[in-house]
Amino acid sequence: MNRRLLSRIGRNMTRWISIPALRSLRRRVGALENVVEKLLEEEQYAPDSTRALNGQQGRQHIFAQIVRDSGIETIVETGTYLGDTTGWMHKVSGLPVYTSEINRHFHLLAKRRLAGYKDIHLVHGDSVDALRKLAASPVSNLQAFFYLDAHWYESLPLFEELRIIVSHWNNFVVMVDDFEVPGDDGYGFDDYGFRRSLSMSCFGKAFRELGLTAYFPVLSSTQETGARSGCVVLAKFGSAAAGQLDKLALLRSATD
Ligand SMILES: C[S@@+](CC[C@H](N)C(=O)[O-])C[C@H]1O[C@@H](n2cnc3c(N)ncnc32)[C@H](O)[C@@H]1O
Repeated sequence: MNRRLLSRIGRNMTRWISIPALRSLRRRVGALENVVEKLLEEEQYAPDSTRALNGQQGRQHIFAQIVRDSGIETIVETGTYLGDTTGWMHKVSGLPVYTSEINRHFHLLAKRRLAGYKDIHLVHGDSVDALRKLAASPVSNLQAFFYLDAHWYESLPLFEELRIIVSHWNNFVVMVDDFEVPGDDGYGFDDYGFRRSLSMSCFGKAFRELGLTAYFPVLSSTQETGARSGCVVLAKFGSAAAGQLDKLALLRSATD
């Protein structure tokens, strides 16, 4: 095949495939490369803060302070991936971690890597189903920290995840990864197309309807390390957990 024909095929392909689909494809290929690399180099989990919470030290401090000050008794993660944040959150907090992953390969590899940790509970499946099961279990009686990170593909389970949490847990803190930080565009966030971004313009109304107060990192993106991805931290308006977040110097409320 000559070069001109190849480049015409390339141009036509980019017309057929939408930008979000291309981005999702690139992400999946990158993730699979990571799986192969992990299998070859580091089959067992080894605590490594450069990989936890996107390697962001500012974010890691926020996590550690919330867990220390808010009486958190258990941790729930959606989107295990290879288990690097799962293992780190367990090591730093000493708390049980419940995590769910929809991709079977990622789940199996994370399960193998974290096999030595009896208080890390890994489930293969959709985050919404996993949260529903936890909501119907004694875990719903515990004060929980939720790390919501299951948003890679076309479906965006965030609203449903939050609805389950709000209706079944009394006192909780939620951290949503890859969320826009208003006033600091150096932090990245996920944008899946028209009205489908992780931002206050898409989710602010839903947070209000669910009775959630939103907080953002005080630390400037220029001082953050690692992937510099944004996040929002949420708690039920008027709850003890929200009272604790109000006192945390590392966070500012959405209304500040
Ligand atoms: C950004 S990665 C998670 C990274 C991981 N939390 C960490 O910090 O290392 C997102 C993961 O969510 C998973 N995922 C996407 N949609 C999901 C869903 N509906 N339920 C469960 N997992 C999902 C993806 O397969 C991917 O492994």
